[in-house]
Amino acid sequence: MSHVDDHAGTGEGTRRDFLYYATAGAGVVATGAAVWPLVNQMNPSADTRALASIMVDVSAVEVGTQLTVKWRGKPVFIRRRSPEEIEAGRAVKLEELVDTSAENSNKPEADASDANRTLDEAGEWLVMMGVCTHLGCVPLGDGAGDFGGWFCPCHGSHYDTAGRIRKGPAPRNLPVPVTAFFDETTIKLG
Ligand code: FES
Repeated sequence: MSHVDDHAGTGEGTRRDFLYYATAGAGVVATGAAVWPLVNQMNPSADTRALASIMVDVSAVEVGTQLTVKWRGKPVFIRRRSPEEIEAGRAVKLEELVDTSAENSNKPEADASDANRTLDEAGEWLVMMGVCTHLGCVPLGDGAGDFGGWFCPCHGSHYDTAGRIRKGPAPRNLPVPVTAFFDETTIKLG
C-alpha cells in the first residue's frame, strides 16, 4: 500500500503513471505529529516541525528495490541498495564526480563519497529527494540511466547508484534530506 496518490487516472502510460511506478512496493506513512507531547503543541515552531516530519515503515522494502513517498509535497526515494549497487557507488572516485559535495543535510560539510550519501554504515539505505536538480522533474529509478541509478528523461540527466549526477545538465547530486532511523524498520524524515 502506498500513500502516494495516483493522479494518473486511467491514462495508461501517462507520465505521472510512469514516474510513480516504483511506488508499487509497500510502505506506510504516518505523520509524526501524534507522538509529540502536548507541551510541544503549545509552541508554534515545534508544532510546525512535528507536522513536517513523517515516519516511514520500510520493513517491506526488499534489497534492490525502492519506495517512493511524498513528503512536504515532494517525492522522496528510499532505496535499499543491492550489494552490486553499493559496490558500484563505492568504486567511484571523487574526481569523476560533477558535484563533489555530499549534498547531505545530515553531513553538511562532507564530500560526495558513497559512504557520505547513505543512511547506514553498510551503505544499504539511500534516502534522497526525488527531484532532479536541473529543473525539478522526477527521475526514473530502478537502475535507469547510464550509471545504473536514476535517469531524468526531461533533459537527460543520469545519476549513479548513490544518486550523484554523472552526466547531463543537472548541476548537483540529488539532495539527502534530514533523515534518521527511528527504529529498525522505521525511517523518520525531517
Ligand atoms: S529536469 Fe531533469 S534533466 Fe532537466
